[in-house]
Amino acid sequence: MEVFETKEALNAYLKPLKASGKKIALVPTMGALHNGHISLIKLAKENADVIICSIFVNPTQFTDPKDLEKYPRPIEHDLAMLKDAGCNGVFMPDVAEMYPSGSDENWHIDLGKAEFLLEGEFRKGHYQGVTQIVKKLFDAVEPDVAMFGQKDFQQVLMIKNMLSHFKLPINIITCPIIREDDGLAMSSRNIHLSIADRKNALVLSKSLQFVVDNFDQFSLKELEEKARAFYNTIEGVELDYFTIADGNTLEPAKSKDENSLVALVAAQVGSTRLIDNMIIK
Ligand code: PAF
Repeated sequence: MEVFETKEALNAYLKPLKASGKKIALVPTMGALHNGHISLIKLAKENADVIICSIFVNPTQFTDPKDLEKYPRPIEHDLAMLKDAGCNGVFMPDVAEMYPSGSDENWHIDLGKAEFLLEGEFRKGHYQGVTQIVKKLFDAVEPDVAMFGQKDFQQVLMIKNMLSHFKLPINIITCPIIREDDGLAMSSRNIHLSIADRKNALVLSKSLQFVVDNFDQFSLKELEEKARAFYNTIEGVELDYFTIADGNTLEPAKSKDENSLVALVAAQVGSTRLIDNMIIK
């Protein structure tokens, strides 16, 4: 497995591969890899010939500087996992490589109304930062396909909107959420959970599963109310939102007949903010 720190070195590696017709996949990450990321690498291998994983903790998508500071960076462990998974190349630039004129460089694109809903309400400017770095990574790699996890459901939607904005010919593949045996969605942030938090965090997947299992029995309003009530009794967990939304717009679902419905949740568990979702249909 090759490791590249500059766009130039990455390009020199990719150029002959592209010229010989190889299909390139990009798996963008911020490191602190877990089996959810590895599932992206595996799916990438089914869809392309050469797999590039990027590891870059992107400063422009963090609204809280403390969150950026404490973001885990276990690089040796990450590289070992990627090598095991059969990744071909890792792109690990530093901030100056991705933001040569500083990370406060100008970037603003229209991502549609959904940018300001859900996560957008709690993390102002987050999706501008995400799409800014993903565009830079797409420009550096020019992949045929790029893989993203369904856990960041809204992120996938924003990236697809960015793609249409720039008319980029990249196929976005969304990979299902990978969960621990007890249902907790895998996340790089789980490392920050105390033993008590780890137990309390199960309320996210349980409340979502309740909605999926009982979808036919209750109205949308009742489902949301009952799911939110899961959080009333758990100390140390604060619900930011629980919503059943139209999967295309992320607006609150108006009817059970919409063709795409997803339940999404975000909660503060101890000092860690977690998100999760389940697609209903
Ligand atoms: O999902 C992530 O890890 C990040 O938001 C991404 C897509 C790598 C951009 O920094």
